[in-house]
Amino acid sequence: MADKDEEMVVTPWEVRGKIDYDRLIELFGTQRIDQRLRERIYKAAGEKHFLLERGLFFSHRDLDWLLDEYAKGHPFFIYTGRGPSGQVHIGHLIPWMFTKWLKDRFKTRLYFQLTNDEKFFFEECMTIEEVRHYTYENSLDLLALGFEPETTFLIDDIKHIDLLYELGVQVAKKVTFSTAKAVYGFENSMNIGGIWYPALQAVPAFLHSWIVGKNVPCLIPCAIDQDPHWRVTRDVADKLGYYKPASIQNKFVPGLGEGGKMSSSDPMSAIFTTDKPKLARKKVMNAFTGGRATAEEQRRLGANPDVCSVFKYYSFIFMPDDRELADIDQKCRSGAILCGECKQILAPRMVEFLERHQAAREEMKDRVDEFSAARLRDEVRR
Ligand code: TRP
Repeated sequence: MADKDEEMVVTPWEVRGKIDYDRLIELFGTQRIDQRLRERIYKAAGEKHFLLERGLFFSHRDLDWLLDEYAKGHPFFIYTGRGPSGQVHIGHLIPWMFTKWLKDRFKTRLYFQLTNDEKFFFEECMTIEEVRHYTYENSLDLLALGFEPETTFLIDDIKHIDLLYELGVQVAKKVTFSTAKAVYGFENSMNIGGIWYPALQAVPAFLHSWIVGKNVPCLIPCAIDQDPHWRVTRDVADKLGYYKPASIQNKFVPGLGEGGKMSSSDPMSAIFTTDKPKLARKKVMNAFTGGRATAEEQRRLGANPDVCSVFKYYSFIFMPDDRELADIDQKCRSGAILCGECKQILAPRMVEFLERHQAAREEMKDRVDEFSAARLRDEVRR
């Protein structure tokens, strides 16, 4: 678990220490999503979204520009992705559900990059067979959320390199080794695959424009730790004559333990989408909360939902209804509800969600190819 007093480190490959999101906005030079911008998004989307309202998505680049273009009748496309280094947990699904909302409301395409090359280069022990396995497994989780094949394109970096390479070489030529070292903190011990990799993560930001032969705005929903990639991508965009991609950035979804993000390396801190309901239930019942040492004390003094992992799960996924959330918040603070009782509310919701997700995932098992970016080969205008 993250040590609270440790210095904050946030790079695309390492997140540790106590995360100060205001400081990250400053350090990375992104913009805060304020009430004015939230209202603007809701107006264009035709409805509110609780993940914006509750601040999970908190930072951005160029969203105003993107919405200006949209208002002028210039649609955008969405690009996001996943490094397939293991099974997906609930924390991963939350931003993807938001991506689905954006895609539906703004009627866009989605390009979803599965960076199996990245995980091969950066994870010491991973083999090609393993990254291939998780590319497929993780695709099932994304598709289980209900994306449409007509407008959803899964890019498998290794399999679809022919689609990416022409743009990749153009990007790579514009990024010097000293920039890569400064932005990503590469050391001399980094394998040269890792040094090349950021060029490939930039590519899908231009891919649609390259395919259709004209500039189309791009929106990237992502966790804030990916921002260094977009700084480089935006720099290169100018040099290659493409639009700079806009982005909408989320905080890390906390795990069930104290502090830190939901971590795949600590299996009890994360509920995996493939966990059996019984195990998921057990993880919920063991979760870290903001409760007091004894029931008597809690009845008297109340508990603290601000530090509670169960409350975060209500807030970010299982209680989209504001009144219900406010009610549990009040009961928690006043001592009217104890943590055990509160977990008893979360557990069945978690189990029901998992059962539904697992059934949807099962349905996609023979359908992944319908979403393959290989179809784009026929669209490329050269
Ligand atoms: N590097 C990301 C990861 O390790 C995967 C990724 C590729 C991605 N392209 C992206 C994430 C675009 C968000 C947006 O998970």
